[in-house]
Amino acid sequence: MPIETVPPSARPPAASDGFFAPFRGGVRHLRFLPLLATAREAQSYFEIGTSKGNSVAGIDCAAVCVDPSFRVEQNVIGRKPYLLAFQMTSDDFFAQYRLSDLLPKPGRLDLAFLDGMHHFEFLLRDFMNVEKYCDERTIVCLHDCLPIHPHAARRLDRRKAVRQETTRPVDPEARGWTGDVWKVLRILQQYRPDLRITVFDCPPSSLVVITQCDASNRVLEGAFDEAVARWDKADERPGWFDDLHDSVRLVSSRANMEPKAIRALLGL
Ligand SMILES: C[S@@+](CC[C@H](N)C(=O)[O-])C[C@H]1O[C@@H](n2cnc3c(N)ncnc32)[C@H](O)[C@@H]1O
Repeated sequence: MPIETVPPSARPPAASDGFFAPFRGGVRHLRFLPLLATAREAQSYFEIGTSKGNSVAGIDCAAVCVDPSFRVEQNVIGRKPYLLAFQMTSDDFFAQYRLSDLLPKPGRLDLAFLDGMHHFEFLLRDFMNVEKYCDERTIVCLHDCLPIHPHAARRLDRRKAVRQETTRPVDPEARGWTGDVWKVLRILQQYRPDLRITVFDCPPSSLVVITQCDASNRVLEGAFDEAVARWDKADERPGWFDDLHDSVRLVSSRANMEPKAIRALLGL
């Protein structure tokens, strides 16, 4: 197993209430996603990573969900005209289906939430695959891209390891696990300056909101191998955690809950 290092310069750990201070005042993503849908007047929603259905449950428009292991035990249909569930990995989904065929006519994607496999190369592929169905007004959200502590950003999800191996409570250092999807934010900042990236302070680890997508853009496809090689071991470099947080200007979700404010922020 690779040795995972934590830079000594890392910022202070989560505040005592479990939220890293910058996220304390924010609105949770489960509440903020429906606000984005309203602001965009979304007719179509696509989700990678559904689990119990908590995120899709708050959405009212037609929805397509992908997860290799659904755990839904609640009414997730609500007021939606339809909901399609694909029990498979997102890579398999994109290999087998054309998303535009599954969306209400004219097959345009209005809102997407990417919250599947939390290893960065998977999320990067998810974004590349989804962007093919986006236009400049599509809103694409990425979850968990600003970990509250370097421990949370390890590739290995120690919450599960602890639960499986012992009956002890979850290791506090393993709380708020995000995986290393933060690298996707850095890669997009580096390779796709044309995207409009807004990072909301939704606890516990932000909501990255992307607009100005371009379905014809192939920069990431061309740069994928290089980007993955360059960022693979980036968490072994001292200072990565501070650099990540310094690269972002967090936007208050609570101060921007009105549709008009959201539209202005996202350039819609
Ligand atoms: C954090 S949960 C999603 C939570 C949900 N979006 C919410 O906000 O309540 C992540 C989900 O991603 C799913 N997942 C794991 N690997 C995946 C993959 N390769 N493709 C799609 N989904 C995946 C897992 O089965 C899990 O249900």
